[in-house]
Amino acid sequence: MERGAKLYEGKAKVIYATADPQVVWMEFKDEATAFNGQKRGTIAGKGAVNARITGLVFEKLAAAGIPNHLVQQLSERVLLTRRVQIIPLEVVVRNIAAGSLTKRLGLAEGTKLPAPVLEFYYKNDDLGDPFVNDSHIAVLQLATPEQLQALCAYSRRINEILVPYFAAAGLELVDCKLEFGTADGEIMLADEISPDTCRFWDLTTGEKLDKDRFRRDLGNVAEAYQEVLMRLERGTAL
Ligand code: TMP
Ligand code: ASP
Repeated sequence: MERGAKLYEGKAKVIYATADPQVVWMEFKDEATAFNGQKRGTIAGKGAVNARITGLVFEKLAAAGIPNHLVQQLSERVLLTRRVQIIPLEVVVRNIAAGSLTKRLGLAEGTKLPAPVLEFYYKNDDLGDPFVNDSHIAVLQLATPEQLQALCAYSRRINEILVPYFAAAGLELVDCKLEFGTADGEIMLADEISPDTCRFWDLTTGEKLDKDRFRRDLGNVAEAYQEVLMRLERGTAL
């Protein structure tokens, strides 16, 4: 498979065309940004680690019946994926209070939520990805009511699958951000699932093993990403 024209460059990945119009080349970068691109840096080896983690997680989800865009991992930092039309919503699923939720609702970081919380953010860099509810989504026509219902059901199911999957690797899935796309009218999970897009805490020590190490200058950022991959490879090999 050859890399074709560049279709899109985001903060963490570049998407290229391939000879197959239904398939794109998703290349993961080492660059990292936070706070809507205001903080910038590089995390050595991140591209390869996130490509591998996304590959493993999406294979797990496909086996559990969640349609997703993964076709195959092509090389260290490249996944071949279905070409989808991205629904411009980020779905955040939270199991434990952290990040923006602690600020918005005044909950202490680490508060276990009695049930998973679902949130939607409108994917729009100029607006800083604002929080939106179902009426905003309807009025802005970001998704149809049927799509929104499917997004909610898939997101809850994905969380139910991933909490024990990461727990088997000694990781608490604190929260995660999901994106979906459509291809031939079918909704499928897209983008990535990695320490860039989830919070992972060590199940016993509570140590942060995700992008919060970069966001908050906690040090050992690349090591934390490697640790997540190492544990998942060990966990899935069992
Ligand atoms: P938040 O607490 O900052 O709202 O983040 C919730 C989750 O979503 C966390 O796992 C990080 C992830 N996330 C992204 O993947 N991209 C983003 O742009 C933001 C703000 C959060
Ligand atoms: N990815 C987002 C950005 O680049 C925010 C984040 O992950 O904190 O700004």
